[in-house]
Amino acid sequence: MRTDWPNLAALTAGRQSDANSRPPIGYALMEDLSGHTSFGIGGPAEFFFTPADRAELVETARRCREAGLPTYVLGKGTNLLVSNEGVKGAVIATSALRNLHAEDATITADCGAGLHSLIALAEERGLSGLEPLAGIPGSVGGAIKMNAGTASRCIANVIEEITLLTPDGGVFAIGPGEADFGYRCSGLDGATILSATFRLLPSDREVVARSVTEHRRRRAEKHPMTQASAGCVFKNPPGNSAGRILDQLGLKGAVEGDARISEKHANFIVNCGRATAADVKALIARAREAVLSAQGIVLELEIEVW
Ligand code: EPU
Repeated sequence: MRTDWPNLAALTAGRQSDANSRPPIGYALMEDLSGHTSFGIGGPAEFFFTPADRAELVETARRCREAGLPTYVLGKGTNLLVSNEGVKGAVIATSALRNLHAEDATITADCGAGLHSLIALAEERGLSGLEPLAGIPGSVGGAIKMNAGTASRCIANVIEEITLLTPDGGVFAIGPGEADFGYRCSGLDGATILSATFRLLPSDREVVARSVTEHRRRRAEKHPMTQASAGCVFKNPPGNSAGRILDQLGLKGAVEGDARISEKHANFIVNCGRATAADVKALIARAREAVLSAQGIVLELEIEVW
């Protein structure tokens, strides 16, 4: 891990003294992103920053913006397909920003905190509202950006406030009504979520714990949790299930290279070992073509592609 700022003219021009007066921000060059995604797929990131706290993250984003570097924010990489050519520009990982703070019936979480840690704290405090999300992998920031959830509950339902870094460097707090949440989406593309406060309902600790365990069990029963994947690949078309449609069309077990449509749930593509992003994209194309020609439905991607 390097801590000097990358010595690029564009990054440091006119800012040397400024850069030197600040604490160093950790980064690596050509970091292999396959180790940062649940798919286990991805090439190198030209610059890979790991800011230690919010101030460093804001500062990193500012310097990248001023250097004109394309910038990508990485949470836990659980809903992400990264090409094997990798990423030109900067990846800013939120992994070190993982504070959680409970107060009365609210919990405030940094963007890089794991959803499982958030739910564990809610359970410990006997706070109800997040249980249906138990077992969903990912970070708080990523879960908010895509409005992660289940048929009965999405994360937007329990958000009180989100603190954002806007593309031009402003830091603002907004309410959920301003985030334009929809089914597995938000209007927050382009912004970086820094933290969020969740409003939960005081309940009985045992009751919350039982519900968390039950949701986790159901998820493990239906989803291929032990194989490398990025969760559901496609959004469900209105009133239908992408997994059911793909299953009915006989696509379970379809293979491209080392990528396979899961036998357990047809909306999951699993990496059987050495799958490439191209293998996954080829399977995605096959699945889409099959659904379009059989049912006239265009499947929309749920996963993000870099
Ligand atoms: N089904 C099949 N075959 C399959 C998969 C599903 O017949 O291969 C059937 C099931 O038997 C069920 C119906 O399709 O009758 C719906 O399946 P499921 O309950 O698994 O839900 P889903 O619509 O496939 C959604 C979310 C999941 C979330 C579950 C549980 C989307 C795209 N998926 O899946 O979220 O965990 O509900 O509530 O909205 C994710 O977002 O990554 C994700 C996995």
